[in-house]
Amino acid sequence: MRVLGIESSCDETAAAVYDRSVGLLSNVVSSQVAVHEVYGGVVPELASREHLKSVVPVVEKALSDASCGYADIDGIAVTAGPGLIGSLLVGLCFAKSLSFSWGRPVYGADHLESHIFAAFLENQVEFPYIALLVSGGHTSLFRVQGWNDVRQLGGTLDDAAGEAFDKAAKMMGLGYPGGVVIDRLAGSGDPRRYSFPRARLAAGSADFSFSGLKTALRTFLVSNEGGSARMEDIAASFQEAIADVLVTKAIEAARRENIGRLVLSGGVSANSRLRALAVSLGAAAGVDVSLPSKALCTDNAAMVALLGERRMSEGIFSGPELNAYAASRFSRG
Ligand code: KG4
Ligand code: ZN
Repeated sequence: MRVLGIESSCDETAAAVYDRSVGLLSNVVSSQVAVHEVYGGVVPELASREHLKSVVPVVEKALSDASCGYADIDGIAVTAGPGLIGSLLVGLCFAKSLSFSWGRPVYGADHLESHIFAAFLENQVEFPYIALLVSGGHTSLFRVQGWNDVRQLGGTLDDAAGEAFDKAAKMMGLGYPGGVVIDRLAGSGDPRRYSFPRARLAAGSADFSFSGLKTALRTFLVSNEGGSARMEDIAASFQEAIADVLVTKAIEAARRENIGRLVLSGGVSANSRLRALAVSLGAAAGVDVSLPSKALCTDNAAMVALLGERRMSEGIFSGPELNAYAASRFSRG
C-alpha cells in the first residue's frame, strides 16, 4: 500500500509518501521558524496561516519527489491530534478534500503514536519496547506491545522537556527554537560545572517534572554567579540535568516492565547529549536503545504515512466525522 502522509500539528507543514514494499519515497518539511522566532515561540494564529500557504506546495513536492500522481496513492494519512487546533484543521481539511476528490480512504493519525513508531522507518524494532517520547508538548513513557497496543506509563506533571529547553533558551537570551541552540552551545561547555536539580519524584513513578529546574535556572541567572558564568557551561549543565532524568527514568521503567528495548522519539530526542547518554546507560543496563535519525525525531510526515499505511492495510480507516483534537488521548497507567 502507498500512502501520502500530511502533518500540520504545530509549526511544520510536512508531507511524505511511504510504500510498504519500497519504503520512504519522499519526505518534505517546510519549517515556520523564521515566522515565529521574532516572538520567541509559536504564535498559533500565524501557524495556521502559514500552513494554509504551504500545504498545497508541500504536498505537490512530496508527490513529485516520489514520482507519483494521485492515481498511485492508495490512501491518505493525516495528523488529527494532539496539537494546535487551527493548525491541525488545515492539514485535516485538505486531507479529507483529497480523500473525497481522489476517492481514496483517509486515516486520522495520532501525533504521539506517529512519533512512537517512527523508528520503524529505518529499522524493524521488536515488540514489546519502552518508548520515551520527548517533544515540545509531551514528555511521556509508553509500553508499546504492538501496532494497536500502546499504554502510557507516565508523563510530565508540568512542563515538557522541549518546553523547558525553549524557555531556558529564552531566559538565557539565546533565541528560538531553544533546544537546538542549547545543544550546540553545550558542545563546548562543562556539564559538571553547575548542579541543577533533578526531580526524580517517588520511587517507581514514571512521571516527570521540569518546572523546578526552570525556576532554578531563573534564580541562577539573576544571581551573581549567573552574571559571571559562561553560557556554554550553563547550557551544558542544564542539558545534563534534563538528559540525566529522562534516560535514568526510561531505563528504570524498562527494568520495572521487564523489557530490554528502549526507543527514543520526538524533537528532543535529536539532542546529542540525550542520545549519547541513552546509548551508554542503556548498554550498562543491558537495554538495547534505538535512535531514529534526527530528521525523523522532529515533526515530519514520514511517520504519519507509515502509521497510516499500517492501520489502513489492516482495514482501519477514519470516516467523514474525522475531526481534530487538541489534547492527548492517552491516560496514565
Ligand atoms: O517533536 P517536535 O518537533 O514538535 C512537537 O511535537 O513538539 O519537538 C519540538 C521540540 C522543541 O521544544 C525543540 O526545542 C526540541 O524539540 N528540540 C531539541 C533539539 N531539537 C529539537 N531539544 C533539545 N536538543 C535538540 N537538539
Ligand atoms: Zn511532535
